[in-house]
Amino acid sequence: MRIDIITVLPELIQSPFEASILKRAVDKGLVEVHMHDLRRYGLNKYNQVDDYQYGGGAGMVMMIEPIDKMITELSAARDYDEIIYMTPDGETLNQRTANHLSLKKNIIVLCGHYKGVDQRVRDLYVTREISIGDYVLSGGELGAAVLCDAVIRLIPGVISDETSALTDSFQDNLLAPPVYSRPAEYKGAKVPEILLSGNGPAIDKWREEQAFKRTQERRPDLLSE
Ligand code: ADE
Repeated sequence: MRIDIITVLPELIQSPFEASILKRAVDKGLVEVHMHDLRRYGLNKYNQVDDYQYGGGAGMVMMIEPIDKMITELSAARDYDEIIYMTPDGETLNQRTANHLSLKKNIIVLCGHYKGVDQRVRDLYVTREISIGDYVLSGGELGAAVLCDAVIRLIPGVISDETSALTDSFQDNLLAPPVYSRPAEYKGAKVPEILLSGNGPAIDKWREEQAFKRTQERRPDLLSE
């Protein structure tokens, strides 16, 4: 998979790809992530990428021309499955969308700033608009980092334990059950007996019940989806 990120602040989104699971995925060649500084196509000697909005009002708008040039350059080199715009008014990111995107070959992620991008960019190029939640960030970069993390960890081979991603919260619309590690008792707090029993089928059943109970208590909305 290849992800091309278009941004005015490449340094803001660099670090997640230089650490942890994402770095390992990049090092293993399972994913390629490329940052593209939009200012490269900025206008005039200031490399301007934003301007006042028509009709007046506070806040700048990211102009169509630099974005058009960047997307045209990238699209000339390969076909893209999706051109995603990170924006608080997009569809809210969930596990289903992450699963779907993890199967794609090439995607562009466009990070907004200021009041966002000229609507014509959204009308002409963008195939999908994604929000990471009902709050406003100062730019799309942190949202893009969250999206990339959620997607990349699902690519086969990225997580060493093959089944691990399949038992995450939200796969099957259920939250994950509680987990425990050594010691079996700590300052009087005990690990549930069943997990020490060695009885595989009984443990599976217990985990299913716990996952269901937790989902019912915390996120009943998931059960009605
Ligand atoms: N840009 C600003 N706020 C955002 C959000 N909530 N999700 C994605 N991109 C954003």
